[in-house]
Amino acid sequence: MNSETLEKINHLANKYKEIGLDLNTVLEGLYESKPLNYWDYLNLEALLALQNPRTDYPDEIVFITYHQVTELYFKLILHEIDQILNAPPQKENILKRIKRIASYFKQLSTSFETMVIGMDTEQFLRFRLTLVPASGFQSVQYRIIEIKSTTLINLVHYPLRKKYDSCSPLSEIYANLYWKYGNRREEDGEKTVTLKRFEEKYDTQLYALAEACREKNLWFYYQNLSEDIKNDKEIIESLRNFDLQANVFWPLSHYKVAAKYFSQPYPATITQGTGGTNWKEYLPPKKQHVIFFPELWNEQEHQEWGAGPMQELFTQQVEHFWQTQAKF
Ligand code: HEM
Repeated sequence: MNSETLEKINHLANKYKEIGLDLNTVLEGLYESKPLNYWDYLNLEALLALQNPRTDYPDEIVFITYHQVTELYFKLILHEIDQILNAPPQKENILKRIKRIASYFKQLSTSFETMVIGMDTEQFLRFRLTLVPASGFQSVQYRIIEIKSTTLINLVHYPLRKKYDSCSPLSEIYANLYWKYGNRREEDGEKTVTLKRFEEKYDTQLYALAEACREKNLWFYYQNLSEDIKNDKEIIESLRNFDLQANVFWPLSHYKVAAKYFSQPYPATITQGTGGTNWKEYLPPKKQHVIFFPELWNEQEHQEWGAGPMQELFTQQVEHFWQTQAKF
């Protein structure tokens, strides 16, 4: 045995001694253990068993899988947000992770384009009827991303947003979040079943999170950075890009997909969201005006949120996506 190997064994012996374990016992265990396999490491069999269509329409599996893929990206986004919020404010760490988050959202909005052709319309409009009242609206990770990214006031229903400031009671702010308005019946303003069921399941958890995140969200974190990091051009650019990808491009892709499938000559009962919103009013980003980092945008950008030049940028991103697909 060479000296390098001996040194490594000594290191290991010390490592295990520190936690009260004898190296010989650990080595015996190693001797017994099987080599790791790809499928075990990734829990692949369990993962691939998680797509369970409710109908016999073949394209339903696309719908389920693409939602699951999106939820996994949401998980990665939350992971990065936590890595920022729980670490000391250091420029390189913040930059690296915000870029990752923006890139995840970019991948989501560009891949959403595939959903424009991703499912056979006839099939989609049939199998989706079995999903009522379930809706992507009930994605709790999406709500957690919002709560951890900005101060809760920035998520209030847009027409009411100016009524609130940092002294307003959290309960009032929470009760007036934009998504609590979106999912209401048009005829009488009553909450839809989709919203009620979501609130029953998650309101307590989300409210507690909102309370815990009052001074622990990305926008608060940014505002309390030292002046040199706060004014750093790269940091500002990366946060703006995150805002753009998350609150303009992803919602625009989503809206575009909904418009493709719902603009069909079918009765409204078939071509409306399973959650029951007025989707033409609810999904476009210019209607909700959600901006995580509002002070990083100028007055004109605020006014044109989700429209004008932002819409053009989105179109360019989409065109670039389709051009690159066509090359191969
Ligand atoms: C054909 C594909 C899709 C269509 C037609 C569609 C349609 C809709 C509609 C109409 C709504 C408004 C709520 C409702 O009335 O149900 C909604 C909300 C939502 N959907 Fe989708 N959706 C699609 C795919 C997805 C995917 C793949 C995800 C990924 C998780 C997703 C996540 C969401 C989220 C998070 C909301 C709430 C947005 C917000 O509150 O701002 N959707 N969707």
